[in-house]
Parts: sequence; C-alpha cells; structure tokens
Amino acid sequence: MLRVGVLVSGGGSNLAALLLAKEHGLLIDIVTVVSSNPKAYALERAKNAGIEALTIRKKDFKHTEEADRDKAFDQALSKHFKDRNVELVLLAGYLSILGKDFVREFKGRILNIHPSLIPAFCGPGYYGLKVHEAALERGVKVTGATVHFVDEGTDTGKIILQKAVYVKDDDTPETLQKRVMEEAEWIIFPQAVSLYIDKKI
Ligand code: GRF
Repeated sequence: MLRVGVLVSGGGSNLAALLLAKEHGLLIDIVTVVSSNPKAYALERAKNAGIEALTIRKKDFKHTEEADRDKAFDQALSKHFKDRNVELVLLAGYLSILGKDFVREFKGRILNIHPSLIPAFCGPGYYGLKVHEAALERGVKVTGATVHFVDEGTDTGKIILQKAVYVKDDDTPETLQKRVMEEAEWIIFPQAVSLYIDKKI
C-alpha cells in the first residue's frame, strides 16, 4: 500500500474520490489529511473515514519575518509527513502555496489536480471557481482538468493526465465546475495515483 498524505482547503470532493477509488481497489493508505482551512468540510470527510485530520497553516506560525514564518510552516509540514512515512503527497483542492524547501524535499512525489486543461487558465490567481469564470469569459468550447507533478512554480510541473469536458451554452461557473469535477477531476486524480503506484509516470 502506498502511504499517502492529502492536502486540502475546501469541500474535499477529490478526497472523497480517492477514498472511493481505494474502496474499489486503489492500493493507497491515506495516513493523514492536512488542511490550510480549519473549516474545510474535507476535514469532516477525513474524520468520518477514520483518518487523522488536522490544520497546519502559515498564519499559525507567528514569526518576526514572513520568510521565517513561511520556513517554519514548510518545516512543520515536511516533518508531519516524514514522521508518518508519507510516500506521496496529493494536493486535493489545496489553495495554499507550498514552499520551495518542501517541494524540493518531496520532489517528484507531489501531485496536484487543477480544474483546467493546463496551460490554459492556470498559474497565480487561477483557482477554484475563478478558473471556470475565466474559461466562460474567454468563450472556450472545451475545458477540463489536469493532474500534474508539483514543482517550484505554480501549475508548471510535468503534466500526467488530462480529461476534456465540453462547455455548454447555458453553463455558469458553478455548473461548469461541478461537471469538470464529476467528469474529469474525480476520474483522473485516482487514475494518476494508480499510474504512480505502477511506476508508469
Ligand atoms: C475545486 O474548485 C476543484 O476544481 C479544485 O479545487 C476545488 C475544491 O476541490 N481541484 P475539492 O472539492 O475540495 O476537492
């Protein structure tokens, strides 16, 4: 079983998709779920599944300089995962920025799910509903989701899987987000983890 740590910030629907995939045979052991937001429903989902669920966030590290605070956060997060022998870190709707030290520490072992077909609608400022608002604003006919390795940039790591979703004329950001989750994110995120386990990526 691959020991997995999951980073969350919101509703946790991608976490739920991973848990469902595990029930259907995905060989993962989710050993901890860490949120950047203490109110994230994803924490409830983890607790209901009997998984350790806690909040680790930058604002709790009050230090003199922002750099000190960010470094302390990075080190705490890294220690948390290393203490639990986490082998793969999954960003499942995670909205905080990971520090360079953390990314280097877990280089090649961090996957992110992004709700667009990268390189479209990604990078700083493109997260959550904003991604779908931008897609509708641009008038694209096809969007989708991407799973990629996390590197030191924002949504710039090697692309692993993508899945397309057609935009409907009457889509709102909310209806589009829901369909991209249902028809793309929740399918390709577990698939990407399976490819990682099989050493195919
Ligand atoms: C959603 O916008 C999803 O597209 C993106 O992160 C947000 C929350 O996802 N991946 P989740 O329901 O918390 O997994």
